Amino acid sequence: MSERHGVIVGISGASGAAIGVRIVERLAENPRCAVHLVISPAAERTLTEEVGAGALPRLHTLAFRDHNPSDIGASIASGSFPVSGMIVAPCSIRTLSAIAFGHLDNLLVRAADVQLKERRRLVLLVRESPLHLGHLRAMLQATEIGAIIAPPLPAFYLKPQSTAEIVDQIACRAINLLGLPDISAPALRWQGRAAASPDDR
Ligand SMILES: Cc1cc2nc3c(=O)[nH]c(=O)nc-3n(C[C@H](O)[C@H](O)[C@H](O)COP(=O)(O)O)c2cc1C
Repeated sequence: MSERHGVIVGISGASGAAIGVRIVERLAENPRCAVHLVISPAAERTLTEEVGAGALPRLHTLAFRDHNPSDIGASIASGSFPVSGMIVAPCSIRTLSAIAFGHLDNLLVRAADVQLKERRRLVLLVRESPLHLGHLRAMLQATEIGAIIAPPLPAFYLKPQSTAEIVDQIACRAINLLGLPDISAPALRWQGRAAASPDDR
């Protein structure tokens, strides 16, 4: 078997912590993937409040390497460390802004900045609503420096039957945005359907 792809998953303190958990679960299922995990202190709280007390221990078990967010000397803080890309899910406005404007005050945002400078994929599942102009400007700036902004929105056209299904669809979509054929996730796709004719309405 060829070498494993290192993928960094950052979980920050926005709502939607279950999506971060699902992404780690999906990646950990793949023997070709090594998950490097960074959880911000705020995300420890959202994970516990939204997913439950078992979320953090479960994530620690699933990760190949679990990094302390204050350890700015960790392997993933360096561009010389070989990883294939990074997903931040969910991505808070604080973390988005820090990445967009180079305020690299913890390992999560430093690792994200490294992906951009090394021209690797960085997928940000930015979660806030409604958005003011400052939020939108940070998204614009992040896009201009190479990040992919992918807000965690349900694909209603796939007619999800449960919250778990919505979470899984968003997680799989985020993984596929990394553009790594070896670690792609199942993708439900719109198959196309003819528009209803005026007679059917
Ligand atoms: C339950 C809860 C939900 C939150 N939801 C959001 C959110 O959806 N989006 C956001 O930007 N911040 C949200 N916050 C606020 C962030 O956690 C806060 O700004 C924090 O400083 C983010 O730090 P981090 O980016 O280092 O994780 C939430 C906080 C809590 C406690």
